[in-house]
Amino acid sequence: MIVLETERLIVRYLTTGDAEFILELLNDPSWLKFIGDFGVRTLEDARNYIVKGPIQMYEREGFGLNLTARKADAVPIGICGLIKRDTLEDVDIGFAFLPRYWGKGYAFESASAVIEYGTHSLRLKRIVAITAPDNHNSAKLLERLGMRFERMIRLSPEHKESRLFSIDF
Ligand SMILES: CC(C)(COP(=O)(O)OP(=O)(O)OC[C@H]1O[C@@H](n2cnc3c(N)ncnc32)[C@H](O)[C@@H]1OP(=O)(O)O)[C@@H](O)C(=O)NCCC(=O)NCCS
Repeated sequence: MIVLETERLIVRYLTTGDAEFILELLNDPSWLKFIGDFGVRTLEDARNYIVKGPIQMYEREGFGLNLTARKADAVPIGICGLIKRDTLEDVDIGFAFLPRYWGKGYAFESASAVIEYGTHSLRLKRIVAITAPDNHNSAKLLERLGMRFERMIRLSPEHKESRLFSIDF
């Protein structure tokens, strides 16, 4: 299902057909460093992640992490979407792109459209984001999206501290 389109990008639901791309993204050094090691090592692991993560969230919440693909050639470049976690009261925005597609404004283009979708279609009054304290690329993007640093939080006692950004509508 297509969630939204921007000038250069298509943002759509992930399917198990995206396993190859997810396998690459979840093993990229930037994902492992700033998001974590989800232990996804094979195409089968990637398919399981897609089904138990994003697809389950589409079914439960009506939204979730989406695939972002380039309109011109349909090449998948990243993921971007809204997440409802048990550990956070508010819906948060998440994004990750393969490094070869950084520095082109793709993350900003899809994340701003996802925020617009969240406020207009889902009628969210507040969106938050959590990011590792040393993830400067992510903080820079969140600020360009109009989000402001609010406080440090810990999602659970096992988690390290993260920075919580927010925007209210
Ligand atoms: C966080 C992340 C998505 C940011 O990606 P990004 O490509 O830097 O973000 P943007 O889309 O906002 O691109 C901004 C850059 O593109 C440049 N740019 C080029 N063309 C542009 C255009 N048409 N429009 C806007 N910016 C453009 C900007 O000048 C800016 O460059 P700068 O960083 O040198 O100032 C990326 O670093 C990433 O995937 N990291 C790994 C995963 C991760 O940490 N996710 C966040 C977890 S909380």
